Amino acid sequence: MSLTTCNVHFSQQSNKIVYLSSPLAKQLKLSGKKSVHLKLGNEVITAEIKQLKRPGNHLYLSTAVRQSIRVPKSGNISVLNNGDNEVQLGPLVGILSESTGRSESNPFGGRTGFIKQIIRTGEHKAYLFGFTPSDINWQQETINGYFLTPQGSWYRKIVPLPDVVYNRLPSRKTETSASINSLRERFVRRKIPFFNWSFFNKADVYKLLDNDPEALEHLPESVSGPASDKIKEMLEKHQFLYFKPTAGSLGAGIYRLTYHPKRGYFARYRKGSENVLLRFANFQSLIRMLHARHGSNLSRYVVQQGIRLIEIDSCPIDFRFHMHKNGKNEWVPAGIGAKKAGRGSVTTHVKNGGSLMTPEQALDKTFGDEAGAVLDKAKKVAVKLSEAIERNYPHRLGELGLDIGIDKDGEVWMFEANAKPGRSIFKHPALRSEGRASLSYILEHCLYLSRFQSQSQSQSQSQSQGGNG
Ligand SMILES: Nc1ncnc2c1ncn2[C@@H]1O[C@H](COP(=O)(O)OP(=O)(O)O)[C@@H](O)[C@H]1O
Ligand SMILES: [Mg+2]
Repeated sequence: MSLTTCNVHFSQQSNKIVYLSSPLAKQLKLSGKKSVHLKLGNEVITAEIKQLKRPGNHLYLSTAVRQSIRVPKSGNISVLNNGDNEVQLGPLVGILSESTGRSESNPFGGRTGFIKQIIRTGEHKAYLFGFTPSDINWQQETINGYFLTPQGSWYRKIVPLPDVVYNRLPSRKTETSASINSLRERFVRRKIPFFNWSFFNKADVYKLLDNDPEALEHLPESVSGPASDKIKEMLEKHQFLYFKPTAGSLGAGIYRLTYHPKRGYFARYRKGSENVLLRFANFQSLIRMLHARHGSNLSRYVVQQGIRLIEIDSCPIDFRFHMHKNGKNEWVPAGIGAKKAGRGSVTTHVKNGGSLMTPEQALDKTFGDEAGAVLDKAKKVAVKLSEAIERNYPHRLGELGLDIGIDKDGEVWMFEANAKPGRSIFKHPALRSEGRASLSYILEHCLYLSRFQSQSQSQSQSQSQGGNG
């Protein structure tokens, strides 16, 4: 196997001959060969080859060749010799998303900007495109993808099924539908790597890690669908619990429950744009309130030991660790945001009055000279937790957003893992370069999964990552 780059030219001939410059033929071990199997995504054609005496790596594709293999554009791209006379262009990488209010200029709604950023990151390194489930033609095994011009506008091109799919379907609801399940199965059956599989539920992640001692050490005690007796028992044990909807996000429906033997039971939660604090003289009235507000939905809640987080100005702080798999298939923390809760808020979400800061700003106040060591430890734990989730999960993972708490003793805890993490931490001016690194990791990992990653590339990457890992 050898990987190189070449400049693809679109020629006007109608024959099915592939012309290539002699240096390229030599690098691809095609010197003296009469024909080649040319591959893009899951499409392969056989074509006659001829060499041109021209310096540099050039490949000339006639109209007939590029129409049958559906090469989306001319210009620089990687080319891989797979052995057995097979040469592959690409990789062809699809980013799967969806939007209800689609338009030609905004095909992926609120995600359009993010998808554009990934495509730009991979320019000349891969054929990247966005698509939605309805753009796939399973009979023909093609996708009508959205490609980006250098000027930033969209154009459509029909291409073969890609080498890798990066899943950013935005809705939990559609993602569990039969049609999306069969879509995923169809990619997997064709051995097309597909990551991430789907959104996580909190209860599923806790269950996944239930037999993994390395991870359990960092999980607050959690019980899914608890009976009231169980909640009471845990309140007596910990005095402080979080009660969260298993498929929730953005802090919706979360309660912070506390118990003081003398003063009774307290529930704190968000109602509209206000923080509410209620006191109950006995446990029964607390449970009655939860039932009145949620009824049978309470079975889809998890109850979790509360962690006494570090604080600034009496407001708790937690962290988002944005984790990626890199070009060597290893987990790395690409960016870390610290979030300070708004006053009286149960969660640290910015939408609920929270504010974003760097991890250094957050940790210096509590740990002083030890702050660096605490952060390094938390990074190691985040890598360990990502590995644990991955080894216990039946599907492919390449990106995770971990909600991490650090307590006053410097212990590290995970509250939840997100499989489609948002990118709001990268809006912080000090985290912009981490945001770009995050995009590069997505690309690198796609190159890795499609095998378009040379040995020397992955080595130099691991060296440059040494400092921030
Ligand atoms: N067990 C816990 N102890 C202390 N704080 C918690 C606990 N669980 C959640 N929190 C706080 O609530 C926030 C939201 O919880 P999380 O589990 O991430 O739910 P969501 O899906 O709504 O983001 C966390 O980021 C953290 O600040
Ligand atoms: Mg969260």
